[in-house]
Amino acid sequence: MTRQTPEKPRGFYRHHLMICTNRRDNPARPGCGAMQGEEAFQKAKAALRAAGPQAQGVQVSRTGCLGRCELGPVAVVYPDGTWYRCINPEDMITVVEQHLLEDRLATTLRLTDDMPDP
Ligand code: FES
Repeated sequence: MTRQTPEKPRGFYRHHLMICTNRRDNPARPGCGAMQGEEAFQKAKAALRAAGPQAQGVQVSRTGCLGRCELGPVAVVYPDGTWYRCINPEDMITVVEQHLLEDRLATTLRLTDDMPDP
């Protein structure tokens, strides 16, 4: 019997940037939405719109909590699973331009697995 390797599924998007905009009522843990996550999302959408046809196959979406709240606002790009954090909403423009449009890591904003919580 010959064993076949399953075909690796292709992602629907070339890059899908998901930005946490979650808000909580808990002032001790307000979530990314209270730390300008929505503003970061709006900056990313505007940068993508401005890119025109270069943005084909790229998507930016809001998402709920991604579980790294203390480092927020955070975002993740799939299918590669690269995480980013923004210090200010304009940082998401850099992520869009470098990672989504130029296919290179936005290294200064990258969030690594070994990064401690603040
Ligand atoms: S609220 Fe954004 S990661 Fe949890």
